[in-house]
This record gives sequence, C-alpha cells and structure tokens, in this order.
Amino acid sequence: MPKHKVAWMPGDGIGIEVMNAARIVLDAVGFDAEYVPAEIGWELWRTEGDPLPARTLKTLRGTDAALFGAITSMPKEEAEAALVPELQGKGLVYRSPIVRLRQEFNLRTNRRPCYAFPGNPLNVKEGIDLVVFRENTEGLYAGVEFHPVPDEVRDVLKEQSPAMRRFDAVSSEDMAISCRIITRQGGENIIRDAFEYAKAYGYKTVTVVEKPNVLRETSGLMVRTARKVAEDYPGIDLWETNIDAMAMWLIKNPQDYGVIACSNLFGDVMSDLCAQLVGGLGFACSGNIGDDYAVFEPTHGSAPKYFGQNKCNPMAMILSARMMLDWLGEKDKAERVKNAVAEVIAEGRIRTYDMGGSNSTTEVAEAVAARARTGAMA
Ligand code: NAI
Ligand code: MG
Repeated sequence: MPKHKVAWMPGDGIGIEVMNAARIVLDAVGFDAEYVPAEIGWELWRTEGDPLPARTLKTLRGTDAALFGAITSMPKEEAEAALVPELQGKGLVYRSPIVRLRQEFNLRTNRRPCYAFPGNPLNVKEGIDLVVFRENTEGLYAGVEFHPVPDEVRDVLKEQSPAMRRFDAVSSEDMAISCRIITRQGGENIIRDAFEYAKAYGYKTVTVVEKPNVLRETSGLMVRTARKVAEDYPGIDLWETNIDAMAMWLIKNPQDYGVIACSNLFGDVMSDLCAQLVGGLGFACSGNIGDDYAVFEPTHGSAPKYFGQNKCNPMAMILSARMMLDWLGEKDKAERVKNAVAEVIAEGRIRTYDMGGSNSTTEVAEAVAARARTGAMA
C-alpha cells in the first residue's frame, strides 16, 4: 500500500496543465502515494449547480492532503447565466469552492513562502526569503457585513461608540458596514504557527503586521497576543510593524525580514506583495493548513487565455507540491525538489514565457524532474 493518500484536484484551465507538470516532478522523486481524483470547478457548477459537490468533500476526507490546480469562477450574474437550462431560475448561488474548502476543513492558516531563487530575472532583489502567515478564516473577511444597515445595528453602535455619531446624517441605504472580527484564539493560532515555523526552519524574526495605533482594539488584540506568544520563543525576535510602513519596507529592504504574520485582509495584501518580489504568479505557491488536513495550491487562477497552449510556468504548482511533501514529512524529497528548481532557474536555459523564455510547461517540469531524480546539488 502506498505511504500517502493525496486528493488530486486539477480543476480548470491551466490548473490541469500545471498539475500534470507537478506529477512529473513528484514521480521523479519517488513520492510514494495513491492519487485519488477529486472533481472541482466550473463544469460542475454549470452542469450540477455546485463547483464543490458533496462527493468531492467525501473523497478529500479519505485522504491525507490535497493538491489543487486552479478553478475558473465568474461574478454572480454570469455564473447564473452559464448554468444548463434545467438549473436556471432555481436560485442557485455560486460560492467560491476555495473559501468553502477553508471553512469545511478549518484550514485556518494560509502559508506563503516567497523565496528569491538566485538568478531568477523576475526577482525584484536577490536574497529575499520571506514566509507570510495569513489568518484564513476571520478578520475583515469574516463575512459579517451590512447593507443597508439595519436600524437595530445602527442604534447599538451609536449607543456603544461615540465615533458612530458622526454618521448620523447618512441614510442606512447610503452606508455599508463590515465587521473586523479578531478572536484571541484566532490571533494566537496564526502567531504561534508563525513562531513554530521560524523555530523549525531557523528564521530569526517574526514580524507582526498590523495597525494598532488606529485599529486600537482589533490590531491591539493581535499585537498583545503576539507579545505573549513571543515569550515562549526566546531565540526569535518579535518585530511589530504597521501595515502601511511595511509596504514600503518590503520594497526597500525585503531581505531584512523573515517570517511575517498577519490577520486576514492584511495577510492577503502582504502575500501578493511578497509574491511579486520573487517572480509573481508563476512562482507564488501556497498551503492552506489546518490541524489535520491541508490543501496546497498555486495562487494563480485558470488563465483561460493560455489554456491548451502548455506555456504557463509550472513553478508555482511544483513549489506547492514541494510544500505538500514537506508537510507530509517527506523532508528529503521536498529538499530535492527545491534544489532542482533552484538549479533550473540558475542555469537559465529552460524557461517559460514569463521569464523571457519559450519553453513549454512540460519542458520546465522535465528539467526540474531530471535534476530532482538524482538528488541534485546540496
Ligand atoms: P489568472 O491568475 O488565471 O491569470 C492572470 C494572468 O497572469 C494570466 O493571463 C497570465 O498572464 C498570468 N499567469 C497566471 N498564472 C501564470 C503562470 N502559471 N505562468 C505564467 N503566467 C501566469 O487570473 P485571472 O485571469 O484574473 O482569472 C482567470 C480565472 O481564474 C477566473 O475565472 C478567476 O476567477 C480564476 N481564479 C482562480 C483562482 C484559483 O483557483 N485559486 C485564483 C485567481 C483567479
Ligand atoms: Mg489574494
């Protein structure tokens, strides 16, 4: 029996092509796994009215982790119009399957390593090695929003907060409110995950990125929690930086930072910023990680305009597969994949279009596989 059981979810568009590429590399390092196909994506929405059907969730529950390519999604009206005639007018609502996966499996941490592989022409600077930890389930994306704002909500807010009184003259129709919900447990989880990672992988700092001078209560709770957690990790420094200043520092001195921890929206912004520092969508890998399950995926979407051309960069997907190997405890195989990717990039002969080359998705995967197979350099 294979050692691991992995749900295999290519999804749509180039998701399929980059997953094929990742498979070439996983096979090259001799990853001992049973791959269980799991359906997700646009075709299921169109024909069944659900891009993430119950049978897929069931399949995932029987596996150790999932590898996911990308999906196509569309705004509400377009999604409704794309349904097969039998399903139209039934009030079906398209909900992001990725968001649902995060909730369904409580994948509370989104981890995004952003490493500047030496010689990547897309690096903004050399020497960058950042890992962003983003809280994945609460914060400003908790989904508690109001429009129009109900009178009861307004009344309570006005009673409890003098700041609300400035909006007295605005009608409820002309106002929308989002709740930024930070829980002590949610904050502690993400900060502790960040410190544990720093400890395990030798990073010297964890930077908590918030704005406590303005968001006194929500950011305040995050920062206070971070100080408390930091006490358990004497060898690692806690740095506190405001989100706005951090955007500047990351452009100016990205090599000064190590692990970064944030609440949901700030983490979303930091992840994209950090990813672009080291090559952008073709390199941006991620893991959605819970206590006992994880889903690994590149950050990019299905890139429909390139689908079928086998030309997109598979590195983001290959690096996501590498994260999965590491999470499953296959440290040596993970290391071989990373070294092989580094070698192919440093050699600079085999590159997809985004790196200025003309090689195919498959050619890049085969180049990585060839080096990973032998163990490659240390
Ligand atoms: P996208 O990420 O699919 O592509 C945007 C552009 O980035 C592409 O046209 C291409 O120029 C470049 N790009 C993306 N991946 C690349 C790669 N591996 N190598 C080289 N270049 C790459 O975003 P877009 O076009 O906004 O969305 C397309 C579809 O994907 C939409 O339906 C959207 O909803 C969905 N989407 C899905 C995501 C997911 O599955 N996690 C994330 C983002 C978008
Ligand atoms: Mg994002």
